[in-house]
Amino acid sequence: MPHADSALVPETITTKAEFWAHTYSQLDALLDSDQRNWVTNLSNASSLIYNSLLAFPAHFGNGQRGVNWCGFYLDSPLFPLSSKSKPVSSRLLLGPFNGKPACQYINTAPGKARGVCADSFLQRRTVVVTDVESYPGHIACDGETRSEIVCPLILSSDGDNTSRVLGVLDLDCLAVEAFDDEDKAGLEKIADQLVKACDW
Ligand code: SME
Repeated sequence: MPHADSALVPETITTKAEFWAHTYSQLDALLDSDQRNWVTNLSNASSLIYNSLLAFPAHFGNGQRGVNWCGFYLDSPLFPLSSKSKPVSSRLLLGPFNGKPACQYINTAPGKARGVCADSFLQRRTVVVTDVESYPGHIACDGETRSEIVCPLILSSDGDNTSRVLGVLDLDCLAVEAFDDEDKAGLEKIADQLVKACDW
């Protein structure tokens, strides 16, 4: 099967739960156990989720305006530094995504952090925003976005029972109230799948 066909959604899929289970298994097939680079895997993941949502308009209610952005913001220590860069630890950097250009940095420093991605990252939990205009501190990368969901990527270490938040997976929609607990469950499974499929 050509890689692009991974983002096709069969007509037999009619519910959100079925949609996320399907997307999970399509991503599983794309993730190659011999290839664990996070740039490569998150690039295909953002494309798969974004294009699968576009191919499943029933997710947002047929006729509703749909997804307009899907991508990752990663903790800055994950990015290599050039010889001239100063290390900055308290921020997220724009990672692989699909959609229009977006802000490059998100501040996560105490007292300066703002926005849905920073909240999800710092609080280590998925944040569902039904209406971005009512969310204090929301960062509007695209003025057309109306609702949003952000899910943390959490790397657990079984050995010493510790965990590290690597970054977040962010989805935006042009309609209000687009995301709910079913999307939260589906995305959290995919976030875990991706964390385990990459070397960090
Ligand atoms: N809205 C996000 C910023 C990222 S963009 O949506 C792509 C936030 O408030 O953190």
